[in-house]
Amino acid sequence: MSTFPKNFLWGSATSAHQVEGGNHNDWSEWELLHAQQLAAQAEKKLQHLPSWPHIRDQATNPKNYISGIACDHYHRFREDFDIAKKLGHNAHRFSIEWSRIEPEEGKFDEKEIEHYRQVIRALRERGIEPFVTLWHWPLPVWVAQNGGWESSKIIHLFSRYCQKIASEFRNDVIYWMVFNEPQYWFWNAYVGHTFPPQRSWLHAASIYRNLSQAHREVYHAMKKINPRFQIGVVESTGVFSPRIVHTVISPLRNFLFPSLVKGYFDFFGLNYYRKVSLLGRKEGTVSAEIGWEIYPEGLYMIIHEASRRFGKPIFVTENGIADAKDEKRLAFIRDHIVWMQKAIDEGADVRGYFYWSLLDNFEWDSGFGPRFGLVEVDYKTLERTIRPSAWEYKKIIENGL
Ligand code: BGC
Repeated sequence: MSTFPKNFLWGSATSAHQVEGGNHNDWSEWELLHAQQLAAQAEKKLQHLPSWPHIRDQATNPKNYISGIACDHYHRFREDFDIAKKLGHNAHRFSIEWSRIEPEEGKFDEKEIEHYRQVIRALRERGIEPFVTLWHWPLPVWVAQNGGWESSKIIHLFSRYCQKIASEFRNDVIYWMVFNEPQYWFWNAYVGHTFPPQRSWLHAASIYRNLSQAHREVYHAMKKINPRFQIGVVESTGVFSPRIVHTVISPLRNFLFPSLVKGYFDFFGLNYYRKVSLLGRKEGTVSAEIGWEIYPEGLYMIIHEASRRFGKPIFVTENGIADAKDEKRLAFIRDHIVWMQKAIDEGADVRGYFYWSLLDNFEWDSGFGPRFGLVEVDYKTLERTIRPSAWEYKKIIENGL
């Protein structure tokens, strides 16, 4: 049996729009406009999945695509953190929702700042280290109307919001992540057109320029506020098959944005879910709910690639599986941790692991269908039920593998 360093951080992750409920931002507006269409397209998109007969009703119902009150985590965070504590977590990753903090340009909502102060306090009171993401995709409506990430105006606006938050929580938070998966977001919003604003990829140059400049400015400004802050970059990573394709694609698909802001981050936040087999033949087990190919060795590969490239400490900031029946989750978690540990044994500086997600939640353009949670959420009653794999994850946290 092997154990992890005593100060290794273990936990789970969420994001504001996916769990809080009651948000008003560019995503909530987009959901209202697109729910009918997403429901109508569901059959074509999902009918190949083994789970299709079970998910059909939900997937073809427009209500599924409206985040609404989501998990009502906004009001139930204490109860949810009690669960995280009970499950042995000593760290938790969540995001602050810009549209709550600055619902109108230049007007910061003190009540909402106080809300997040309570969230952070609730974590600390339970011995759980907060990891705070400053942008996990939705924009305040007024920012989106001003061109969002296409307009260079956003650099100043975003940096001002981050500085406000960083000053407020100067003594309460150490670990920050500026953006969640900027590259993956760009791909979905501007190439795949599955996320708002569904506009042309021809905006790529200005978006990358604005995102990377904003990241650098925020890094500098926040370090001035508190030099002890640890500020990370978080990117979605994936493994491709055949290997030769992976070698060619990986620097762009996985590391383009982090390379653009090299020198401006203290840790690499690695989100890893799956392998994509480009020749169509899936070699490994597949998640029945969304068809993603499970490939734990990929986590090991990406950890080594990121270590070589950036030489920074790594946190696995997301890794998870959609599995309502909880049939494959335990093996998924255990196998990924086995490969993570192999990378650590070989010298990689990995300091924490966050399972995605603590709760079932609103999975963007897939609505409430895929269930990633360690904890099941009944969306009618909002009742939480801890899944068996969550207790097994606790045993790994406490005793090692
Ligand atoms: C995102 C999460 C999302 C998860 C599962 C990640 O790319 O950061 O918000 O829920 O993938 O799809």
